[in-house]
Order: sequence, then structure tokens, then C-alpha cells
Amino acid sequence: MGTMRTHVLIAAVALGACTDAAPIESPVGPIPPAAQRPGDADAGWRALIENGYVGCGVPRSAYDQVFAPAPAWARLDRGGANAALPYNFNAFRTSSGVDVVSPNCLQCHAETLRGQLVIGLGTHTDDYTDDVSGLAVLAGGLITDAAERTEWEKWRDRVVAVAPYTITKTVGVNPADNLAAVLFAHRDADTLAWSNQPMLPLPPAIVVPVDVPPWWHMKKKHAMFYVGAGRGDHARIMMTASTLCVDTVAEARAIDSYFPDIRAFLLGLEPPRWPFAVDAELAATGHDVFAGTCARCHGSYGDGGVYPNLIVALDEVGTDPVLAAGAAQFAGEYVRWFNRSFFGELSSLAPARGYVAPPLDGIWATAPYLHNGSVPTLAALLDSSTRPTYFTRSFDTNDYDEATLGWRFTSLAAGQDAEPDAERRVRIYDTSQFGYGNGGHTFGDALTAAQRRAVLEYLKTL
Ligand code: HEC
Ligand code: HEC
Repeated sequence: MGTMRTHVLIAAVALGACTDAAPIESPVGPIPPAAQRPGDADAGWRALIENGYVGCGVPRSAYDQVFAPAPAWARLDRGGANAALPYNFNAFRTSSGVDVVSPNCLQCHAETLRGQLVIGLGTHTDDYTDDVSGLAVLAGGLITDAAERTEWEKWRDRVVAVAPYTITKTVGVNPADNLAAVLFAHRDADTLAWSNQPMLPLPPAIVVPVDVPPWWHMKKKHAMFYVGAGRGDHARIMMTASTLCVDTVAEARAIDSYFPDIRAFLLGLEPPRWPFAVDAELAATGHDVFAGTCARCHGSYGDGGVYPNLIVALDEVGTDPVLAAGAAQFAGEYVRWFNRSFFGELSSLAPARGYVAPPLDGIWATAPYLHNGSVPTLAALLDSSTRPTYFTRSFDTNDYDEATLGWRFTSLAAGQDAEPDAERRVRIYDTSQFGYGNGGHTFGDALTAAQRRAVLEYLKTL
């Protein structure tokens, strides 16, 4: 096994060497716009919540034995096989004629906030701290039909392959960047054929944690992802979610044909409005402070607002460096895989050594903050001396703190290594762990406390 891994690695390095002609790193600074395919937003919404873009799933018969019909609040306006499913699953029929259920994009891109399901708000309460492959394997015991069994085996193989690489250290952060890397590694770049044996070296099993960004940013952003890696046609990049089970270029092309519609739907989303009172005078003062201190990176808002689409160098922003140093799907071999594959036809991955200064529309609703979700409130983001090193936060999305704009948290004296109880350990956000750092972005520190209060008030209005 060890030797075989080495051979695979050498082959991959050699391959990399001869396909390395195109630059794969983006410069920091402004990101240029790229042409996008037009689409139909209404058709995109239906496709998002009804189509089989993941390509495989758990056979419906097994799903129904395990899961009760979804409660009313978790259902969408869907008929037929989807009617009783929760919002984050789609039912569809596979190319082999089996009815299956699989997670959809809303698994990670919808969240409740004060009792309302907000489509496009990044999920920040999910628990990825466990290896779930045992469940996928167990589901097989519920299946008797031969065609269903074949479909289930396909699903199981993919889940078993990715599971060890998608385990986070803490509840609430997302492993999607590592997930993408593992899926790329198991696919032939030219044919998209799946191989249970990886064809590229796998990423480290230590997951690089990310906080899922909100979809309503996409109407302003020239590039996708925190490191500005997603260049060219955004719809083609979004459909990499299909790499779990879509095994041929022809199937991928059919799915790609409706992704411009899904992108059009994303572009129509508006952030939720601040639901509490605003002190208009204080917010006006905050606007002026923001214009002087923050707007050069984050842009201006309201009529005539301008968003600069700026990647800020790692040295300047100073936040946790792991993701921007080329981790997970942004490491060289996966970037090269992407760029020579079907996905590279219209788009490319070209990560930068820095982070995009994101739009701040609806920022109140998107706690926790920074790309790794390491700062629980906006108040703490603006005054780095108040950021907790070790904390547990509320996962109750009704428990929003109006005063600090974010999730109530409790500071702890010690981190995960000092907590013997596994259940309690994974509830601790420990900023001393690899990739979980909460340093940097000290731009609020030089302001007076009164100025920071004013900026917070202004941020409520975005
Ligand atoms: C397993 C969780 C997961 C699933 C499923 C998922 N995403 Fe994401 N998505 C993420 C994470 C995490 C990021 C941020 C990654 C980064 O920037 O490094 C992201 C980023 C994005 C972005 C870029 C946002 C920005 O501000 O740059 C878009 C657009 C997007 N996803 C669309 C989709 C669509 C459409 C689907 C379904 C086809 C989907 N995602 C499925 C987790 C997920
Ligand atoms: C030099 C450019 C720059 C300046 C100036 C700047 N920021 Fe940022 N900001 C960034 C970058 C880059 C990030 C993303 C960092 C990361 O995720 O690691 C960021 C992240 C943020 C976030 C978190 C966004 C999220 O969704 O998690 C907020 C809020 C924010 N900035 C507000 C401000 C405010 C308010 C000011 C002024 C006091 C300010 N910034 C000044 C570049 C800047």
C-alpha cells in the first residue's frame, strides 16, 4: 500500500510538471470581472430544489424507513416525490431508473435565523465532527432490490472515500473545501470517471475549516471563494457539487446546461433586514467612520455604492493563513486537476495569497465572522482585544445578541486539549488549532470605543 501511494504520488507530480504552463496563482489587488452566461432565476430555483445534480443518493425506500416526513416549517413549495422532504434534500430518479434522495445545495446554503428559514444564508450550526460513513454502510441493510443495491453501493463508496477527510474539530464550521479536494483526487480529469483508489495524493485529513458565505454576495463578486479562486464562468464552478457522483462528461454537461439558471436565482437574493431598531444619528456617524476606515476595502453602500472586489494580501489582513497558503482544494494538484478537466473549459481555479474583502450586505445575519468563523460577534471583530481564544457559542439561532451583533458565547480558560469529554470538546471553538486562528483584521482597533459603537450601528443598516 505504502509503495503504491508513492507511485501514485510520483505520477501525479510528473503530470503536474508538464501541465504547469498556465499560472495558477492570482495576484492580490482588484479582481477583474468575467463574462457570465445568462439564466432564468425562476427556473433556477426549481432546478435547485428538484433536480438530481448530485447524481446519486440513498434509495428512497431506505430513506423512508429511517426518516419521518419533514415538519411543515422545513418543507418547501414542492410536489410529487419532494413534497414531504425537508428543504435540504432532493428526490430524483437516477440514470439507472432508481428513485433516490440526496442532499442539495441548501444542506450548506440555508439556515434558520430567528425562526425563519433563510435561503442563501450559510449553515453555521451543522456538526461535521463525526465520521458518518458508518451510517451510509448500515443503510445497505435496509435494501433488498438489486438495482437499488447497486445505486446504494455507489453512494456508499463515495461517502466512505470522503468521510475521513471531512471531519472538523468543532461544530459549526464546514469541510467543503477538503471535500472538493478528495472528490477531484478520485476522478479522472479527462473523463470524470470515478476510481475508488485515489489518482492524486489526498489532502491532509486535518480539515481546513470554513464558514459558509452567504449567496447574496454573488451579485457583487467577480470571483468565487474566500481566496478569490473561482474565476471565469461561476455557474460551471458551482456545479462542482456534482463531483460526488456524476461520472461522465456527458452527464456533467447536461447538468451544466441549467446551472446558469441557478446562478441567476442566486443573483436575485436579498439579505435579510436588521429586525430591531436603529439609532439613525449614530448610524450616520458610523457611516462617516466607515467611509474613512473601511470603505477602501469593503466598498460603499446605498445608491451609487461601489464594491472594489479586492483581494487583500495575507500580510496586510493578517487573518489565519492556512487557507490562503494553498490548502484543501486550493493546493496545486487539485487546482491543476480542475483546470484541465471539464470544469476548466469555461472557468478556472486560481487562488491568491490573500483574502477577498467581502461585501458587507446583511453582515449582521452572517455571524460568526472571518473565513473560518473564528469570531462570534461583530463587536469582537472590531476590537481584537475582546475576541475569545477558547469559547463555546450558542447554536440556537433564536439566541441572537442585538448588542454585539452575533452569537452569544462563553469564554473558556482552556481549549480542546484540556477537555476530556468528547461531546463537550467539539463544542469548543479553539483558536489555537491549525486553521482556526482568530488573529488579524485589526482595522477596528485604532478606533475609539465611541467610533466602534457608531460603526456597529451603521453595519446594521447594510
Ligand atoms: C458541503 C457544503 C456545501 C454544499 C453542499 C455546497 N456548498 Fe457552496 N460553498 C460551501 C463553502 C464552505 C463555501 C466557501 C468555500 C471557500 O470560499 O473557500 C461555498 C461557496 C459557494 C459559493 C461562493 C460564495 C462566495 O461568496 O464566494 C457559491 C456561489 C456556492 N458555494 C454555491 C453552491 C451551489 C450552487 C451548490 C449546489 C450545487 C453548493 N454551493 C453546494 C459549502 C457548500
Ligand atoms: C485593508 C483592507 C480592509 C480594511 C481596511 C477593512 N477590512 Fe474588513 N475585511 C478585509 C478582508 C480581506 C476580510 C476577510 C478576512 C478573512 O475572512 O480572513 C475582511 C473581513 C471583514 C468582516 C467579516 C466578514 C465576514 O463575513 O466574516 C467584517 C465584518 C469586516 N471585515 C468589517 C470591516 C470594518 C467595519 C472595517 C473598518 C473598521 C474593515 N473591515 C476594514 C479587508 C479589510
